[in-house]
Amino acid sequence: MRINDNYLKLKAGYLFPEIARRVSAFAHANPDAQIIKLGIGDVTEPLPEVCREAMHAAIDDMGDPSRFHGYGPEQGYAWLREKIAQLDYQTRGCKIDADEIFVSDGSKCDTGNILDILGKGNTIAVLDPVYPVYVDTNVMAGNTGAASDDGKYDGLVYLPVTADNDFTPELPKQKVDIIYLCYPNNPTGAVASKAALKQWVDYARDNEAIILFDAAYEAFITDPDIPHSIYEIEGARDVAIEFRSFSKNAGFTGTRCAFTVVPKSLTGKASDGSDVEVHKLWNRRQSTKFNGVSYIVQRGAEAVYTDVGRQQVGELVSFYLENARLIREALSAQGMNVYGGVNAPYVWIKAPNGMTSWDLFDKLLNEAHVVGTPGSGFGAAGEGYFRISAFNSRANVEAALDRITSNLAV
Ligand code: MLT
Repeated sequence: MRINDNYLKLKAGYLFPEIARRVSAFAHANPDAQIIKLGIGDVTEPLPEVCREAMHAAIDDMGDPSRFHGYGPEQGYAWLREKIAQLDYQTRGCKIDADEIFVSDGSKCDTGNILDILGKGNTIAVLDPVYPVYVDTNVMAGNTGAASDDGKYDGLVYLPVTADNDFTPELPKQKVDIIYLCYPNNPTGAVASKAALKQWVDYARDNEAIILFDAAYEAFITDPDIPHSIYEIEGARDVAIEFRSFSKNAGFTGTRCAFTVVPKSLTGKASDGSDVEVHKLWNRRQSTKFNGVSYIVQRGAEAVYTDVGRQQVGELVSFYLENARLIREALSAQGMNVYGGVNAPYVWIKAPNGMTSWDLFDKLLNEAHVVGTPGSGFGAAGEGYFRISAFNSRANVEAALDRITSNLAV
């Protein structure tokens, strides 16, 4: 048999396992060190009570023959899809129907899986720095050439986002067919204004391109003028797929539930030049390769949409945003250049004194026993930057800040 050679083009390790490897080596050599992890964006606080209660009740359903559930619809239960369509979209003026929502077990999976229904030969644009999944899944799918010395893959169009352009990418100079956008942004914590998103929607409409819009962090938007969904932009229904998740708002990283919106008006070209509804292809893909999210978990997600659910989720989000504020303020007071963390759970800092991203990672790990994420792991334009996640307990965030600020003289 032959393997998929495209995997051999991938850089050695996915970023987060590579960090985990270094941290575990350090922990092994320093068994007494109390390491605080502000690296991967994984939640730490308990699931909202309303979600737990709903899941307990759902388990009881599974113990009663008249309420038992076997295979559910691959697209998700109608009662969840309807609430999502109504409360996440229609109340914001977005024309999204319940049957355009596909419930899934994660946005990471869906942003990778979507490539199943997109053809070969598309020109693909990503921001740089970027959530590594968008790049690596394209490498795996054979949509790129090899990586060059700076870590960029041939065949991808990289749009730099740095302090120099206020973390706002320029539109691509050439025609691209697929554009990955993530707002609020991972890793920089930047947001896109309505005007900025409109430029992208106009670009996609003019160039017959598709926008893959990752809105996993939308719950963290505090600025009332910032759109929560790409569909708040007129015309986006025809050119965009949106990915949303319960991981970061309701703490479902270990519980697993997300959804992807594929509007029926979005079409792509078949090789004979005809227009094909992307929704049909995704529906076919999901019903062939996926058996849906568990009934119990979908009941937990449904509880997010109750009044008390919204309140409890709001408290969780505020808790992490307060962590982000503490991180931002402590590091700015230290003289560092600090970005993000206002409408996002990530604070993006410029490494002081000309340090590289991995220099700062090693220094913080070795001297402060704090783990962050090196910006260069997200792309060449992330070199010299560093991401600190606000997902941790208050006590850990405060202890980490004490150690960082006493350790890092700027
Ligand atoms: C991150 O730290 O960038 C995220 O946790 C990754 C993810 O959500 O998959």
